[in-house]
Amino acid sequence: MSTLSSQQLIDSAKSFGTPLYVYHAEKIGAQYDRLKNAFAGADVRFFYAAKALTNINILRYVRSTGCSIDCSSINEVKLALLAGFEPTQILYTSNNILFEEIMEAKEIGVHINIDSLSNLRKFGNAFAGTYPVGVRLRPNIMAGGNLKISTGHAESKFGVPLEDMEELLQVQKETGLHIRTLHIHTGSEIKDVEVFAKGVEVLLDVVNYFPTVEVIDLGGGFKVPYMPGEEGTDIEKLGTVLKQEFNSFEEKTGRHLQVWFEPGKFLVSEAGTFIVRVSVLKKAGDTWFAGVDSGLNHLIRPMFYGSYHHIENISNPDGPTRIYHVVGNICETDNFAENRPLPEIREGDLLAFQNAGAYCFEMSSYYNSRFRPAEILFENGEPRLIRKRDQLEDLLQNQVIGR
Ligand code: LLP
Repeated sequence: MSTLSSQQLIDSAKSFGTPLYVYHAEKIGAQYDRLKNAFAGADVRFFYAAKALTNINILRYVRSTGCSIDCSSINEVKLALLAGFEPTQILYTSNNILFEEIMEAKEIGVHINIDSLSNLRKFGNAFAGTYPVGVRLRPNIMAGGNLKISTGHAESKFGVPLEDMEELLQVQKETGLHIRTLHIHTGSEIKDVEVFAKGVEVLLDVVNYFPTVEVIDLGGGFKVPYMPGEEGTDIEKLGTVLKQEFNSFEEKTGRHLQVWFEPGKFLVSEAGTFIVRVSVLKKAGDTWFAGVDSGLNHLIRPMFYGSYHHIENISNPDGPTRIYHVVGNICETDNFAENRPLPEIREGDLLAFQNAGAYCFEMSSYYNSRFRPAEILFENGEPRLIRKRDQLEDLLQNQVIGR
């Protein structure tokens, strides 16, 4: 649930208008502290998966906590540099990209995880062992909140399949490639600690083929609670389990490995709230529709993944409970919630969507030529605008208008 008060959210809507994304910096900091504490004593590094939310002010705040950053495109790498990250704090985990983009990342000097034999071979041919890289493996583990966000299973496009191990070793041998990192990212919203432990097992099973590997990168994917009462990944248990696994590996083999993680949702999901205003209340048959000043153009997760976002009626929290479909204003079905019990909704009420920090604004679009929302950040109790609401000029910005 939001760590900001309803009054703070209501005041923000008054000052900045709706629809509005509101973030809470200290919540991001608290999540990072939780991770650090859970892994205290271990040789571990955390790289914020920037794809979840790339506003430069968020990136700067993340940097100020001491966390490093994981990027999924060369543009995210450039944003990370603009936010003040050093190349050594930047990891670029690519998939299916042109080799030119890998070259560009190398020029900048960031850590690079490569996810295909084709690009690994090109890299090895070009640079042999002069620039250490990571290899993304496909561990063939099915896990994650839904199929779209499951990335490590045996039919997934991501990574070098374990079945291709021989060919990978061949590339290593033939080109002299210096493989420093073995990487997996199994999926998003993985609750079970056992899934992460299984991933570690898979990697530790093959690491002896790679004498130059110093880092095991386990990607992101920690689950956070979305529904009231729901539990997320038990990070503290995960810390204990993984520390044991890596310590016993070190005792057995005499080999020390550093562990990396790339959390996105864990750091920013709960730090975000999306505020919308109810524009139209409509009764059709037995169904009450609460139509709001937003839609799948601003928050697509419910429609795209069937994701649950908890909604609060912050204008009428003590109203009698009624059942609503909360719907958007886009020209196709964009239901945020169906048959959702909520305190009585009136036209003009403000609704607050929880868990709006990760993959929400970030996946927004200009569909129906509507403006994308403004974003604000609370830090030290003070809200500040970190993205202006779009205007008509923004819709036209890159269009060649001509005559
Ligand atoms: N590392 C890699 C290589 C990834 O592909 C991802 C997410 C992460 C780390 C961070 O995963 P997280 O900790 O946030 O679960 N748009 C979807 C989520 C897609 C995740 C894509 N990759 C959603 O809204 O649920």
